[in-house]
Amino acid sequence: MAASLVPPRQFADARLENYRPDPEHPSQADAVEAVRAFAASWSGRPRSGGLFRRAPKGQEQRPGLYLDGGFGVGKTHLLAALWHLAPGRKYFGTFIEYTALVGALGYAEAVRLLSGASLIAIDEFELDDPGDTMLMSRFLGELVAGGTRIGATSNTPPNALGEGRFAAADFLREIQGLADRFTTVRIGGLDYRRRDAAESAVVAGDAAVEALPDDPGTTVDEFDALIAHLATVHPARYVGLVDGLRTAGLLDVRALPGQTEALRFVALVDRLYDAQVRIVAGGLPLDRVFGEDMLAGGYRKKYLRAISRLVAMTHAAPESI
Ligand SMILES: Nc1ncnc2c1ncn2[C@@H]1O[C@H](COP(=O)(O)OP(=O)(O)OP(=O)(O)O)[C@@H](O)[C@H]1O
Ligand SMILES: [Mg+2]
Repeated sequence: MAASLVPPRQFADARLENYRPDPEHPSQADAVEAVRAFAASWSGRPRSGGLFRRAPKGQEQRPGLYLDGGFGVGKTHLLAALWHLAPGRKYFGTFIEYTALVGALGYAEAVRLLSGASLIAIDEFELDDPGDTMLMSRFLGELVAGGTRIGATSNTPPNALGEGRFAAADFLREIQGLADRFTTVRIGGLDYRRRDAAESAVVAGDAAVEALPDDPGTTVDEFDALIAHLATVHPARYVGLVDGLRTAGLLDVRALPGQTEALRFVALVDRLYDAQVRIVAGGLPLDRVFGEDMLAGGYRKKYLRAISRLVAMTHAAPESI
């Protein structure tokens, strides 16, 4: 199980060197420096002593780094880059993967398994469930006490409308006892996936979906039937639905009927995106499945991120995956 705790395929090559900070958002270059400084202590050449590279006061020794920011600004990219810089045994997973690990192995065994690692990277730290949050705080506290360092990124809190600027404050409040162990880096900017004008989802058409090859890495589903199926599977198991999948065909895409269906679909989109699946779809453009009322509500950020991910997946070239 621990063997699967590595960055998703699409972040296999994510490095600080190929992160392109947006000059219009200086916090991006700052974030690169913060990751570099955090990683420097592993190399035995801490940079905090240098006159020009000095880390902000009081942040040099903290064992945790929290990357906070809106969607598509490269949080996961930077976390994967940090993971690549960490020496020896190290882990990378989503918050959900770690809680699943603790659930499957039991608390003590999970601590035993991960302890001694140089880094635990946690993508999309969730604060939705107080029980899980407490469990993870305690879990991480034990690992940090053993010398392990933690890198984490923000997930999208349900009611963080607009810029999500409350995420870091929420995070630090919720992970009581660990908060002062984290340096928080706030990354501003636009969705990188949209920087290059890939504005809307590609609609290949139902005929193109029907023409997809009949192979084990390809699925074809009627959109409404897929949404109905999602109601019968626990979202924690959606990862099983995308296992081994390369191309997902969706016939007759339509607007999602309600919030419940929409949130389930968002959970599936996240798994598809992690697995870097290409989407070939017909019907309504996938960036229009969430209604105006949904986009105006408390889950706006979740939906906007899902749209950004959907657009990217419909633009993926077959040969790129
Ligand atoms: N500044 C950048 N330079 C180069 N590539 C970038 C940059 N920012 C993002 N990317 C790339 O864009 C894609 C989206 O970035 P990433 O997934 O890291 O963003 P994120 O902040 O984690 O978004 P999300 O909110 O969707 O989790 C990735 O393929 C990433 O490698
Ligand atoms: Mg991410």
